[in-house]
Amino acid sequence: RRPDGCGIIIFGASGDLVYRKLLPALYHLYARNLMPEKFYILGFARTDMTDDAFRERAREALVDAHEPDAPETVTKFLSKCMYVSGDYKDPAAYKRLQTKAATCDCDFSEKENKLFYLALPPQLHPSVVSRLSECGLTAEGENASPWARVVFEKPFGHDLNSALELDKHLSSMLDPSQIFRIDHYLGKETVQSILMLRFANIMFEPLWSQRYIDNIQITVAESVGVEHRGGYYESAGCLRDMFQNHMLQMLSLVTMEPPTRFEAEFVQAERVKLLRAIRPWSERTLKDNIVRGQYAAGTVHNEKAVGYHDEANIAKDSATETFVGMKLYIDNWRWQGVPIYMRSGKRLHMRESEVAVTFKRVPHSMFGFASQHEMPANILVMKIQPNEGVDLTIHTKQPGPKTCMASLSLSFKYEEVFGITPPDAYERLLLDCMLGDRTLFLSRKGVEAAWTIVDPILNFWRDHPDKAPLHSYEAGSWGPQASDDLLLRSGHQWRNPPDE
Ligand code: BG6
Repeated sequence: RRPDGCGIIIFGASGDLVYRKLLPALYHLYARNLMPEKFYILGFARTDMTDDAFRERAREALVDAHEPDAPETVTKFLSKCMYVSGDYKDPAAYKRLQTKAATCDCDFSEKENKLFYLALPPQLHPSVVSRLSECGLTAEGENASPWARVVFEKPFGHDLNSALELDKHLSSMLDPSQIFRIDHYLGKETVQSILMLRFANIMFEPLWSQRYIDNIQITVAESVGVEHRGGYYESAGCLRDMFQNHMLQMLSLVTMEPPTRFEAEFVQAERVKLLRAIRPWSERTLKDNIVRGQYAAGTVHNEKAVGYHDEANIAKDSATETFVGMKLYIDNWRWQGVPIYMRSGKRLHMRESEVAVTFKRVPHSMFGFASQHEMPANILVMKIQPNEGVDLTIHTKQPGPKTCMASLSLSFKYEEVFGITPPDAYERLLLDCMLGDRTLFLSRKGVEAAWTIVDPILNFWRDHPDKAPLHSYEAGSWGPQASDDLLLRSGHQWRNPPDE
C-alpha cells in the first residue's frame, strides 16, 4: 500500500545520517513506487545551503554509495527535495520553513500530512517540537486527517531522568500517537525475522526456554572506529549508543512471549514486559558481570588503526568505553537461570552481528562419549548482518563402518534464497511511519524500561571507577581479555564467528 501524500521535513539535514541513510532510504522507496504519489522533502539545518547545493550533496550520496541504475529517477526524486537554513530555536526560521513548504509544486491542498524527522541531538528535541507546535505545524485535523507525526532519532535522553523529562515535555505538546521513536535495528529484515523464526515455526518455541536452552549470546561487532562522530560518541559511549537501544531491543525479540497479534500495542507490550523482567543489578553483578573497554591502536582487516585517544575530537585522557560485554539474567518462568551474554564494540575483529542460541546437551550419551557433557550442543545462529541468514548446527553420523559423529550446519543465506540483499532498515521504518504503523517503533515505556537497566551501570561507573576498570583492547581483536574471562568463569566462551 502506498501512503497518502505528505511533506517530509528533516531537521538536522546537514548531518551524516541524512545522506548516509535517510535520503537513500527515501530514494529507494521512490524507485520502488512506495512513496506517496505526492510528496516533498524539505531539509532544515543551521548550515547555509541552497536547494541546488542540498540536491547536489544528496545526489553524490546516492550515486556514490548506491549506484542507482536510473539517473533520470534520481533527478526526478531530487527535484522534490528542498532546503531551508536557520537556527532550531528561532521562530522566524519556522516561518521560512512554512513558506518554503507552501512553494513546493507538489500540488498539495493547504492541509497536508506532515512527517517531521528529528535527526538531532536530544537536547534540541524540546525546542524544535515547541516551535513546531507554536506555529501550528503539529496540529492534526479531525481523526488525524491530515496527520502530523514526529520521528525522534535516538538517543532519547542521556539517562533515565533526562528521558523522563523529555517525554513529559513532548507529551505536553504532542499526542502519543504522533510520536515515533526510531530504533533502526527493529527495521532490519533479519531482526524482524527473529520473530518470524520463533513464532511461524512450531519446532523452536517448545524448546525456547530454560528447559532446553543453555545460554544466549548477542554480538554486535563493528570493525569501524568512531569515524567522524567523535564529538557525539565521547559523551555517549558504547553503553548508551548500542545497549540502551539496539542490544536490548534485540534481546527482547529473542526472549519475549508471543504477542497475540503482530500489531503495535501487542508487540510493544511484550517487549516492555521482557525488559522489565531483566534481573536488577546488584553491586556485585555491576562489578563482576559487566566489562567495559576502550580500543588501543592495532590492525583491522590488515590496516593499521589508531587507538581511540588518537581519533579526531576525542580527549587524550578520555574514559569513554568503546566496548561493553555483559552477562545478565531474566527473572521469569521461561528464562530463569539462563545466562544471557551480550557484547558490542567498535574496532573489533570484524563486522558481525548475530544472535546465537546454544541448546542444552542431550541428557544421556549413547555414542561413546564418556558423558553427555562431552557431546557437542546444537546451536542456532541468527545472522543479523552481514551474510544475513540462519545456521543450525546439528550432529549426524559420519559415513563409514564406525559410529562416528559429525557436526554440520543447516544453513540458509538470505541473499542466495531471495536473490537480494535485505533493504535498509530505514526504508521499512520510514514507510511504516508514513502509513502510521507503530509496531516497529519504541513506546515511551520501552524507552524507560531500557534506561532503567542501563542507568545503574552508568552511575556505578561514575561513582566507582576503581571497581569497574576500563580495559584496553587492541583494535582488530575481539575485545578485552576480561570479556572472555567473564564467560570462562561460567564455563562458556564467546562464539567468535569464523573469518569469511
Ligand atoms: C548507531 C550507532 O545507532 O548504530 C552507531 O550510533 C553504530 O555507533 C550503528 O555504528 C550501527 O548500525 P548498523 O546498522 O551499521 O549496524
